[in-house]
Amino acid sequence: MTETSGSGIFIAFEGIDGTGKSSQIQLLSDALQKKGHKVICTREPTDGEYGRQIRELYIKRDRVSKEEELELFLADRREHVTQVIEPALRSGKVVLTDRYYFSTAAYQGANGMDPADILKRNEAFAPCPDLVLLIDLPVSESLHRITKNRGDTPNTFEQEEYLHRVKVVYDQMDNPCIQRIDGMGSVNEIHNRVMTAVHGLLA
Ligand code: TYD
Repeated sequence: MTETSGSGIFIAFEGIDGTGKSSQIQLLSDALQKKGHKVICTREPTDGEYGRQIRELYIKRDRVSKEEELELFLADRREHVTQVIEPALRSGKVVLTDRYYFSTAAYQGANGMDPADILKRNEAFAPCPDLVLLIDLPVSESLHRITKNRGDTPNTFEQEEYLHRVKVVYDQMDNPCIQRIDGMGSVNEIHNRVMTAVHGLLA
């Protein structure tokens, strides 16, 4: 397994769509900056060339094979690790990423690939986070938030039956770096749970 490099702190947020990860990342980032930490917030899929190709799949997923889809996520991540994550950790920053390789295990795993094999392929090049905050929410609530709050129509990565399978893979993950956070409640309640979870890391 690749160890986290450098002296920074690496935290990944994970969970099915609609769990409120991006709001929680923003709140955590603000709180950590107030405490004097240098923080960068980043996300996968990235805004790079591979990320752009992945976003095109939201509309027409069957344009590529399952293996090609997986390769695109891996290529995007390789770039993300070398260009963003590792340099930031080397310079002592706190890196908060909205999704990382646990998403690939869960989503591509739910799409017929082997989650354990996906984890192994990622761990060969991607540093393991110090902490993975897996925000847990029932699929019905997640879809409710996507359609009602975000005003969106669920994309092909967000269809109900698929999300149930994604959640099953997340539920089965037992990596010691994973801490589960109950995603039900107000934004502020969940923020407090996040702060409690990261407390030990930053002390
Ligand atoms: P999402 O976090 O919704 O990104 P954005 O809103 O910025 O487009 O992620 C997009 C979708 O990509 C999401 O449904 C999960 C999926 N995904 C995978 O299938 N595999 C992966 O490895 C990653 C990182 C995301």
